[in-house]
Amino acid sequence: MRISPAKAIDLLQRGEVVAIPTETVYGLAADASNELAIAKIYATKQRPANNPLIVHIASATQVVDWASEFPPLAHRLVQAFWPGPLTLVLPARAEVSTIVRAGEPTVALRVPAHPIALALLRDSGLGLAAPSANKYTQLSPTTADHVEAGLGAEIPVLDGGACQIGIESTIVSITGDTWQLLRPGMIDEAAITLIAGRPANQSVTHTPKAPGQHLLHYSPHTPCLLFTSRPALMDYAANKPGGAALLFGDDIANLKTTITLPAEPAVAAEQLYASLHTLDAAQASVILIESPPDTPAWAAVRDRLQRATYQPVSQND
Ligand code: TXA
Ligand code: MG
Repeated sequence: MRISPAKAIDLLQRGEVVAIPTETVYGLAADASNELAIAKIYATKQRPANNPLIVHIASATQVVDWASEFPPLAHRLVQAFWPGPLTLVLPARAEVSTIVRAGEPTVALRVPAHPIALALLRDSGLGLAAPSANKYTQLSPTTADHVEAGLGAEIPVLDGGACQIGIESTIVSITGDTWQLLRPGMIDEAAITLIAGRPANQSVTHTPKAPGQHLLHYSPHTPCLLFTSRPALMDYAANKPGGAALLFGDDIANLKTTITLPAEPAVAAEQLYASLHTLDAAQASVILIESPPDTPAWAAVRDRLQRATYQPVSQND
């Protein structure tokens, strides 16, 4: 159900959930200071309560409302990348709801770059907890239509058009003057390293809850298979026709239901989930996916595809 910005503010201030556009993916938002409202996010998504939420704020000046520490390294990253697709995990102030942070001593914060999201944050005066607006483990939404298809026609959606980044934010955890990459995104590790002035610290003793730690994630309903090479994918398709396919680069495959994304990571990321939603709707027996090159520029897209296609080795692992 599409709603106006004024209605969205009204609902959020009354403790209801609203799906909102961001530049990465649509989020399912609620007042981050209202525990009953946050509980509705977990219930709507059918998300386990041990997976913490990102709090979206209107500007970097609000970091200190949520985080008990705002070290110089975090300042530099915020100056370079906010508003934008970077989430920072910082030590939380004691008042931050333990439901939002799922019992962690830290809180995840982000200023999104979408003008509608920014206006909503500013005009509502709220910090908004917002995970991606999809059911747990399923494909993330990058349009208002995707949100309604995944969560039902009754879910209130603020329509902001198609998301420009297309995959979830990069998540960086900061401890003093060191940092760790928790989830790859379109702001890549090299860009963070440059601004941070040092590489990620690999030897952190406390491992925070890994974002998207569930190996099956971002996943269509149709079974998916990931192929490391185009020839291997073509071989499979020749022997077992009836599958749909997602390719990267040249469209030389000549398969039936195929989407070919350009060999340009930013464009491919923008269109990734929409393509998988489309292929899922084709009701093929399987979606064959070509893995993009194993290079840093493709790290975030590869991460999402590996999780979308994850298959447990055995039922007991
Ligand atoms: O781009 C995005 O980040 C989107 C848009 C809506 O902003 N949001 C998003 O939320 O992807 P979600 O809930 O699907 O993913 C957030 C991830 C979760 O996997 C969670 O584990 C991690 O962030 N996270 C949240 N708080 C954390 C914390 N305190 N420590 C470590 N990880 C945290
Ligand atoms: Mg998600």
